[in-house]
Amino acid sequence: MLDPFGRRISYLRVSVTDRCDLRCVYCMSEDMTFLPKKDLLTLEELERLCGAFIDLGVDRIRLTGGEPLVRRGVMQLFGGLGRRIGEGGLRELTVTTNGTQLTKMADDLFRAGVRRINVSLDTLDPETFKAITRWGRLESTLDGIFAAKAAGLGVKINAVALKGVNEHEIDRMIAWCGEHGFELTLIETMPMGDVSGDRTDQYLPLSTVRQRIAQNWTLVPSDHRTGGPARYDTVAETGRRIGFITPMSHNFCESCNRVRLTCTGTLYMCLGQEDAADLRAPLRDPSLGEAGLRDAILSAIARKPKGHDFVIGRDARPSVGRHMSVT
Ligand code: GTP
Ligand code: 5AD
Ligand code: SF4
Repeated sequence: MLDPFGRRISYLRVSVTDRCDLRCVYCMSEDMTFLPKKDLLTLEELERLCGAFIDLGVDRIRLTGGEPLVRRGVMQLFGGLGRRIGEGGLRELTVTTNGTQLTKMADDLFRAGVRRINVSLDTLDPETFKAITRWGRLESTLDGIFAAKAAGLGVKINAVALKGVNEHEIDRMIAWCGEHGFELTLIETMPMGDVSGDRTDQYLPLSTVRQRIAQNWTLVPSDHRTGGPARYDTVAETGRRIGFITPMSHNFCESCNRVRLTCTGTLYMCLGQEDAADLRAPLRDPSLGEAGLRDAILSAIARKPKGHDFVIGRDARPSVGRHMSVT
């Protein structure tokens, strides 16, 4: 599948639920309204949709949320998609999670064919963890991370860099990830959805963070790529990679390879744009069949925009109305 700018679309992110057991301050407001459960596609429907994307050339699928592992029965979807890993199917099935359910689910994920996971962890300090997630327990995410490691899963830690919140902890996180064999990816906060407060206060350009890191660590540029937006260096002292996701300070849209599906069957062609295509109607219309679904996907891809227009600090309003958890 090629979009109008000649980019090959090979990566599908699927938000299987907009719900989460935490409420990270940069992600959600305190009083979030979630989608009514009746609007959700069933897991069978999500699997069929993913199958249609795979048939059109998608070879990486990442299940996300919200918190994907709180959706009831989600292992069934992992199982179904895991069976499509291999020649002509998926190269990779992955998940982005907050880690709280991993003590229960890490082994099942490995059995389903998942080999690496991304876990959101912005701090190693229990009080800061509580302040960021509003009520989360650091312990429960850490236990999950170590359960994943024990299950044989590769772990990448995602940390959103937040001014005055965790910026002083980055050296510690690099050392901790090095010690335990995890990769670390730092992320710039993106202005999506209303959160209680103004993200402008929290925005920290990663160019600044990188300069500070370079005072204490030797960063060796790496050409490692995952198909995701991070650009990597290797930290010479730990031998581990560190990734930088810089949508705000240095956008990477020209090499975008992805589209995003919500749990209600809406396809967003870009994280930072409102335009979307409804795939639920063609999915549920028996008269259209697989060909109708395929046409709906292809005409959505033909509308993929050039990139996002995220701006931080414009009247403190989010650039797109939906939260990251929806898509
Ligand atoms: P891998 O590279 O496969 O490990 O994963 P990833 O970094 O693409 O996925 P992950 O879910 O861990 O996302 C990390 C951060 O990158 C999150 O803040 C995402 O929202 C952000 N991100 C992922 N895809 C895009 C994108 O297409 N555009 C922008 N601007 N940000 C993205
Ligand atoms: N900007 C940047 N990253 C965000 N995440 C959630 N909301 C935002 C935002 N507004 C991160 C989470 C998780 C990943 C999927 O997205 O921390 O690691
Ligand atoms: Fe939940 Fe992840 Fe959003 Fe935090 S960032 S509230 S863990 S979806």
